[in-house]
Amino acid sequence: MQQKYHIVTYGCQMNVHESEKIAGILQEMGYVSTDQKEDADIIVFNTCCIRENAENHAFGNIGALKKLKREKPNLLIAVGGCMTQEKGKTDVLKKKFPFIDIMFGTLNLEQLGELILRKKSQKKKVIEIREKEGEIVEFTNAYRTSYPNAWVNIMYGCNNFCSYCIVPYVRGRERSRKPEHIIAEVKGLVEAGYKEITLLGQNVNSYGSDGSTGMTFAQLLDAVASIEGNFRLRFMTSHPKDFNKDVVDVMEKHRKIMRLVHLPVQSGSNTILKAMNRRYTREKYLEEIQMLKERFPEVEVTTDIIVGFPGETEEDYLQTEALVKEVDYASAFTFVYSPRQGTKAAEMENQIPEDVQKDRIMRLVELVNSLTRQKSEKYVGKTIEILCEDYDEKKDLCMGRDEFGRMVYFKSAKESIGQFVKLKITRANGISLYGERVEE
Ligand code: SAH
Ligand code: SF4
Ligand code: F3S
Repeated sequence: MQQKYHIVTYGCQMNVHESEKIAGILQEMGYVSTDQKEDADIIVFNTCCIRENAENHAFGNIGALKKLKREKPNLLIAVGGCMTQEKGKTDVLKKKFPFIDIMFGTLNLEQLGELILRKKSQKKKVIEIREKEGEIVEFTNAYRTSYPNAWVNIMYGCNNFCSYCIVPYVRGRERSRKPEHIIAEVKGLVEAGYKEITLLGQNVNSYGSDGSTGMTFAQLLDAVASIEGNFRLRFMTSHPKDFNKDVVDVMEKHRKIMRLVHLPVQSGSNTILKAMNRRYTREKYLEEIQMLKERFPEVEVTTDIIVGFPGETEEDYLQTEALVKEVDYASAFTFVYSPRQGTKAAEMENQIPEDVQKDRIMRLVELVNSLTRQKSEKYVGKTIEILCEDYDEKKDLCMGRDEFGRMVYFKSAKESIGQFVKLKITRANGISLYGERVEE
């Protein structure tokens, strides 16, 4: 009988895509996928450590496997991802969950196959965490699960050391893939029928800034958007300190590039931005938004915001609220600051009490939701073209998004997935839009 794998993923898009690479490795070894962890012969946890609750989540789910492992001693349990790269974390994991068989890091993910074989030949657990980033390993075998969307790494790691953030410690220094590898991968995906390509990096705007690629991000974006075929192109994440006019010029040149930019602001207060080591001001950020809106009047911007950062006063917080209103985001991911061991901010003295943090996050979520609702209402009556991305069995509706990232539900067969469809928006319900197909 064929051996089965089950992967549990936490964290960002980077991790979601890395789980596709893990799946690729397992498939090459002859494993097939299962949704049921009880049926699996190997369960892989691809962890995240960006906030404490991400870690607690993983701890809870790994712990819950104790019984299954006792009943199925041959079941392999592997833990990888950002948590294993954290200093001292493998010891914590070993102690808490002695039944883990394999631990591997983000910096040696490609070794997983070899580690599984090693584990099968020995009783002892296998722990392999590379401490320093090595040369980029080109993956050709990611097993993609999100048709018609495909994620493509253009770079790995981060050099920014925002004072709250653990990513630079667990992902190593910034390194960019060669343009020819990226272009070949995108060409292959377009030929295979993928319709939305997202270029991925922690700070895509600093692509090639070490001079190793002979191209800036704007040049790469231009080259990728010049690939023939009917597809959309997106990029994530832009850092406001490096986002620039060159990128906007390339966007203007190519209609393929979606009119949707994720530009994390984190805070609306210059004092807090400085303490966060973000290296831009509120004013510079707003200028960038202005530049985008002037070029593309309908452009949508999304963002990430942290509240309750050490030293954040009510006045600082209100500046964030004011900025949110001014930008009029399509949506925002909002987080309560979570101290991460080893980062500068965790050592700061003026940590904010939990009740104040909670109060601020509730107010901010309310504000963001009310803005999103108001925005949704404005789309009713419009006709737009969407890419059908998914089918919701429970609702018996398809879901798609337009070039501004607006999500719309509509009646259609599952077979519409991967097709561009014209819709008339008939109603808005909170942040969800509903539409009907219009004949062309
Ligand atoms: N590289 C991206 C984001 C990476 S993490 C960028 O620079 O924007 C995604 C988001 O998690 C961040 O934008 C930030 O808002 C949030 N985040 C990171 N560290 C955090 C922490 N310690 N506490 C709360 N939120 C955090
Ligand atoms: Fe973290 Fe800042 Fe790097 Fe983003 S840019 S991953 S927030 S250190
Ligand atoms: Fe992503 Fe979490 Fe790692 S947000 S980079 S998976 S710490």
